[in-house]
Amino acid sequence: MTTPQAPLLHASGISKFFPGAVALDEVELKLYPGEVHALLGENGAGKSTLIKCLTGAYRRDGGTITLDGEDIDAKSTAESQELGIGTVYQEVNLLPNLTVAENLFMGRQPTRLGLVNRRQMNTQAREALLGYGLDLDPGEPLNSFSVAVQQVVAIARAVALSGKVLILDEPTASLDRDEVDLLFGVIRQLKDSGLSIVFITHFLDQVFEISDRATVLRNGRVVGERLLADVTQHDVVTLMLGRQLEATVQDRKAGKPGALLLEINDLAKRGMIEPFSMNLHRGEVVGLAGLLGSGRTETANLLFGAVQADHGKMLIDGREARIANPRDAVAQGFAMCPEDRKTHGIVGDLSVRDNIILALQARQGWMRPIPRAKVHEIAEHYVKALDIRLASLDMPIRLLSGGNQQKALLARWLATEPDVLILDEPTRGIDVGAHAEIIALIERLRENGMALLVASSELEELVAYSTRVVVLRDRHQVRELTGDEITADNIVHAIAAEPEKGAA
Ligand SMILES: Nc1ncnc2c1ncn2[C@@H]1O[C@H](COP(=O)(O)OP(=O)(O)OP(=O)(O)O)[C@@H](O)[C@H]1O
Ligand SMILES: [Mg+2]
Repeated sequence: MTTPQAPLLHASGISKFFPGAVALDEVELKLYPGEVHALLGENGAGKSTLIKCLTGAYRRDGGTITLDGEDIDAKSTAESQELGIGTVYQEVNLLPNLTVAENLFMGRQPTRLGLVNRRQMNTQAREALLGYGLDLDPGEPLNSFSVAVQQVVAIARAVALSGKVLILDEPTASLDRDEVDLLFGVIRQLKDSGLSIVFITHFLDQVFEISDRATVLRNGRVVGERLLADVTQHDVVTLMLGRQLEATVQDRKAGKPGALLLEINDLAKRGMIEPFSMNLHRGEVVGLAGLLGSGRTETANLLFGAVQADHGKMLIDGREARIANPRDAVAQGFAMCPEDRKTHGIVGDLSVRDNIILALQARQGWMRPIPRAKVHEIAEHYVKALDIRLASLDMPIRLLSGGNQQKALLARWLATEPDVLILDEPTRGIDVGAHAEIIALIERLRENGMALLVASSELEELVAYSTRVVVLRDRHQVRELTGDEITADNIVHAIAAEPEKGAA
């Protein structure tokens, strides 16, 4: 692709300061007509902040923005939408209980005699979504559809309102491959119709698959703009991190597992997960593999008591354990870091420090407050250990970047020093550098005798840290891989129910 002369959107010298943090320092972004432009950088690099400055969600502290050659200065997202810039934020801004059509037309419903004309609205919504290849009943509540469909609805809404620039902040973070294909189909279609698209993600394969150009941020500064046809993934990672990524996922699983800790016998919940059996020793990492919807998260929830088993039993250290809810689980030495930090995790207005200490304090009982100095020490320890980027431990956690919130949530559970740590998608939303750190952390915890169960859709990572892998398909446990059997190939075959190469 050759570079056209004039950018459609040109942001230059954009600065944004927060108390204690320079989030953006004279950033330039040139978005050309009809291109997909990836915005890349580590957690906390400033990607979401730049987007918010472009859309008027934040007031910028310096710089200019032109659209079609005209200076613009949107003071709200509504204003930037009118100018032609539509955005789907990292934290999706739809109302899940309303219908698809209501979400699509929120604030601009077709009315008749002052009343919302529901039939007309549904018909228009259906037509609009058919244009995106979605054939569904728009009278159904939004949350009865998959996240991918919800994303497409959010995009359809943004495009209908705006129509020049579409900004997507980590739209694929919780999608499986088929859903990503659906979304990419929509993105290509919009691009062909002349829309310019800004795409933020931590999945570099996806960047190269769909984007034409990339701007890379590091610590609030632009460190490079590249045509993706001219560079490799390795080049991009080096730019993002400002250093070479050390030889990433390598097999480091040495040493024998320790004592038997957990015996799970036919644990099940009717209609949700079929009988599940597994032993877990200290110093073991059991990987839980399977497609989205195969029951990975449900299995994790079952063990943690977030879902009540109606069949089977679990023994801890040889004794039958009664786990009726997560509180029981925590009391018995379990910890679980959930997949979705927004609904099961962070308490946005509470400080980072209090968020980190929450699980430990809850386990000790609220009547026995942990001394402030101790709280501070623990929080500081984990902020350092996980390299959480923040201005101060006192800041409300919602002000951290998405990936840093994820790390703080992990810190919360590590602080309880559990015997059994369950991690559901521990590297989601986390940048490439931090991926390697989290893998190394899992390895360290294992060596120190913790028992871990890690559900993940990242096969290479599972292979790197698991001492055993349990494969789920359609909510059934279908295969267990140990030792040399643990390869990405074998996992894929077990997921797809195909015989392995070389198998008899
Ligand atoms: N309202 C705010 N108050 C104080 N600091 C903030 C605020 N919003 C963002 N920051 C800080 O600005 C920096 C950039 O954050 P931003 O959310 O833009 O990162 P990001 O590149 O989107 O990261 P991620 O990949 O983790 O989503 C971070 O250090 C963050 O803590
Ligand atoms: Mg972000």
